[in-house]
Amino acid sequence: MWYYYGSKLKLVNKYPQPKYKHIIEPFAGSAQYSVKYWEIDVTLIDKYDVVIKLWKWLQKCSKNDILKLPILELGQNVDDFNWDCEEAKWLVGFNIVMGAYVPRKKPTRWTTTERPFRQINKLKLISENLNKIKHWNIILGEYNCIDNIEATYFIDPPYTKGGRLYIHNKINYSELAEWSLSRNGQKIVCGNESDTWLDFKPIGNLSGVKHKTIEAMFCNE
Ligand SMILES: C[S@@+](CC[C@H](N)C(=O)[O-])C[C@H]1O[C@@H](n2cnc3c(N)ncnc32)[C@H](O)[C@@H]1O
Repeated sequence: MWYYYGSKLKLVNKYPQPKYKHIIEPFAGSAQYSVKYWEIDVTLIDKYDVVIKLWKWLQKCSKNDILKLPILELGQNVDDFNWDCEEAKWLVGFNIVMGAYVPRKKPTRWTTTERPFRQINKLKLISENLNKIKHWNIILGEYNCIDNIEATYFIDPPYTKGGRLYIHNKINYSELAEWSLSRNGQKIVCGNESDTWLDFKPIGNLSGVKHKTIEAMFCNE
């Protein structure tokens, strides 16, 4: 939904379509997969309270709540503005930088002088997506806090290499592998070339803010 470190915005078309009427994203972040297939049931889980509060706030927002948010110029700081709530500040804090893992205070050149349309277009897109997320179930918690119901599980944890930046990044990958394989339904698991905890297959290259990676996927069906 918003710019986020590890977001699957550029890769979302490479993953299989959901086979079940319920998507569960236990490492939700900005949940690009669920945004694409938003019409069915969606459950998002994330351990980072900022992410979950943002989703819950967006569920209540009107288009105008989003479109009235400020577009920052180079040199400005989110602390210079008055905000209706912390979530509004966080949303802008994510969208003034490409791929931040926490909301930032100052915009980069990339979202101001070089690509001024990026902030505006993102807010416009979010405002157009608000109606899609109203029925979603959004949970603050550990990835495994949900019953093993039949669903499409889109499992996108912090990667073994590159995942350290997240506020929550301590994953026991053998436990996660076991948990993922034991889900009831379709399991789509994301990784990159450094991940060996499942039988990942490469799906394409991704140019991140700093590094290029080979993205990979495990899928049981
Ligand atoms: C790679 S990002 C997900 C990106 C998402 N697929 C997207 O398109 O934006 C991983 C997310 O997992 C969350 N996370 C890390 N450890 C977690 C845990 N133990 N349980 C649940 N969520 C966790 C992080 O806060 C982060 O938002």
